[in-house]
Amino acid sequence: MNSATAQANPNIAFIKYWGNREDHYRLPVNSSLSMNLDGLFTRTTVSFQPSLPFDELIINGHEVVGKGLERVSYILDLVREKAGIKMNAEVMSENNFPSGAGIASSAAAFAALAMAGSKAAGLDLSEPELSILARRGSGSASRSIPAGFVEWKMGEAESDSFAFSIAPPDHWNLADCVAIVSSTHKKTGSTEGHAIAGTSPLQGARVADAPGRIDLCRNAILNKDFEAFANIIEHDSDMMHSVMMTSNPPLMYWQSATVEIFHQVREWRAAGLPVGYTVDAGANVHVICLGEYKAEVEKRLREIPGVKNVLVAGVGGAAKIV
Ligand code: PMV
Repeated sequence: MNSATAQANPNIAFIKYWGNREDHYRLPVNSSLSMNLDGLFTRTTVSFQPSLPFDELIINGHEVVGKGLERVSYILDLVREKAGIKMNAEVMSENNFPSGAGIASSAAAFAALAMAGSKAAGLDLSEPELSILARRGSGSASRSIPAGFVEWKMGEAESDSFAFSIAPPDHWNLADCVAIVSSTHKKTGSTEGHAIAGTSPLQGARVADAPGRIDLCRNAILNKDFEAFANIIEHDSDMMHSVMMTSNPPLMYWQSATVEIFHQVREWRAAGLPVGYTVDAGANVHVICLGEYKAEVEKRLREIPGVKNVLVAGVGGAAKIV
């Protein structure tokens, strides 16, 4: 079989990955922790064809060339090397959510590509091997391979820096209400962001404290302690954005509506609603709540000026062949 289709969810990081200790292999400076987002997905078909003169990439019906295609070919090269084949491939990918706006589209994309590409090449990779392959395309993609609540251990080398599930999707009924305040493509992508993270004097402190934050967040998830969970995810997100804002050049992803949502979420929590916020490399706010409150949280978010849309996702499963 020369063709395979795979589907993967994006994920939202609760303890963030920001900065590489090694750029080529995408080895992170700290471990990270996330949840897959159910209902949002990238579906990718890879077909190796002897007649193709070069790799082709089609995303949502549009042909992509340049940097986007180079990143895909880089993963296909790793697959070809492992499988001992030389054929070029056609890659067709569809997202059902907006890309480039802080909903980690690259995570779902490279997880689906790693899975479809390796399967189409006749490889039968283990979950850690798939996570490592996805990581080479985009660090956070390593976390979109396993199911549910996922930890990516920074590891000591290329071969042990992969993600694994710490709890299945049905362990804790959480929802992510993503408040879209901007759907434009961000100016500085995460690859450039990782490269300048070390220029912030705050990055050393953020990284040194990461193992403690991972333990707090993992325990909060395993014990289903929402108050501890909300406090640590907000703290971690604020720390990453403090590093971003104090990098050289500085990165300011927030819009005024982003900050307005922070204030509202904290007020709601103080009044007893189980909610907490976290933001990736974009302006949109992921408002995490207990699943039974998702309709209420969505309604409240839609009333905030500047909120253009709200996407709601539960806890997602593993990447899979479809
Ligand atoms: O995987 P990348 O290179 O797109 O980096 C992801 C960076 C953040 O989304 C900001 C944090 C994270 O851990 O997902």
